[in-house]
Amino acid sequence: ATTLGAAAAGSGRYFGTAVASGRLGDATYSTILDREFTMVTPENEMKWDAVEPSRGSFNFAPGDSIVSHASAHGQKMRGHTLVWHSQLPNWVSSIGDATTLRSVMNNHITQEMSHYKGRIYAWDVVNEAFADGGSGQHRSSVFQNVLGNGFIEEAFRTARTVDPAAKLCYNDYNIENWSDAKTQGVYSMVKDFKSRGVPIDCVGFQSHFGTGGPPASFQTTLSNFAALGVDVQITELDIAQASATAYGNTVKACLNVARCTGITAWGIRDSDSWRTGENPLLFDNSGNKKPAYSAALTAL
Ligand code: XIL
Repeated sequence: ATTLGAAAAGSGRYFGTAVASGRLGDATYSTILDREFTMVTPENEMKWDAVEPSRGSFNFAPGDSIVSHASAHGQKMRGHTLVWHSQLPNWVSSIGDATTLRSVMNNHITQEMSHYKGRIYAWDVVNEAFADGGSGQHRSSVFQNVLGNGFIEEAFRTARTVDPAAKLCYNDYNIENWSDAKTQGVYSMVKDFKSRGVPIDCVGFQSHFGTGGPPASFQTTLSNFAALGVDVQITELDIAQASATAYGNTVKACLNVARCTGITAWGIRDSDSWRTGENPLLFDNSGNKKPAYSAALTAL
């Protein structure tokens, strides 16, 4: 195969990218997008601050433009993201009453998932709920602080009732190294959810890596999570300076795990990346394929 999407499809997987709605009119950008990628994640357009900037007032237009583009080009969608402490409007983070916040969270999930029902392959229902460092516990957030530990379970249960056909994922960063406390915390949560029948279908490993790429244990981590009975996906891949070896190793880790169902790069050209100056993506600023592209394609 001569494209990332076609090569990934050869083993039943997808290869995706984050897309910014404002760049769809850039012909270089959209040409690469539609040639190479079979899955699309909106980079910002489905986040709470974009979708519900004030209570009960929903704006789906930017997200809709990405869904329309994807649909017209045979690409599937990952929905990103419903419950996250970041890019969260002040009107939500300032709620102090649990009954109100529970209703606001469930309404947000319900309205957004209903709007996109039938068009989303997988939702990042909860993003980045675990703390960095050695605690292995949830991070501080309005959801955690006002609703307590059960907010994640509640979000997944609500999500399942709204769109039973969508895969429901937990997504986080720095959970790629098996021995890290954060990884173990998320693993324990998924194990508990599966044992109690809390609906969870997948875990997204963001995979924002430094110059060395994935930790040596990455494949072990993917495989151990998959053994709990969930799909695993690489959801936001970028690697500082984009070493070809590091990209190849990342792709191989996924390909070696049967339930690693796909890989998403967090942008197309280096100039599209949120990591300014790190040149972490597969295409250079002019849209040319980088050595990392060839390494990824070869590994697929
Ligand atoms: C980033 C976007 O790429 C930026 O454009 C935005 O300013 C901040 O968020 N983890 C996530 C993504 O789950 O949503 C983040 O995306 C990167 C880190």
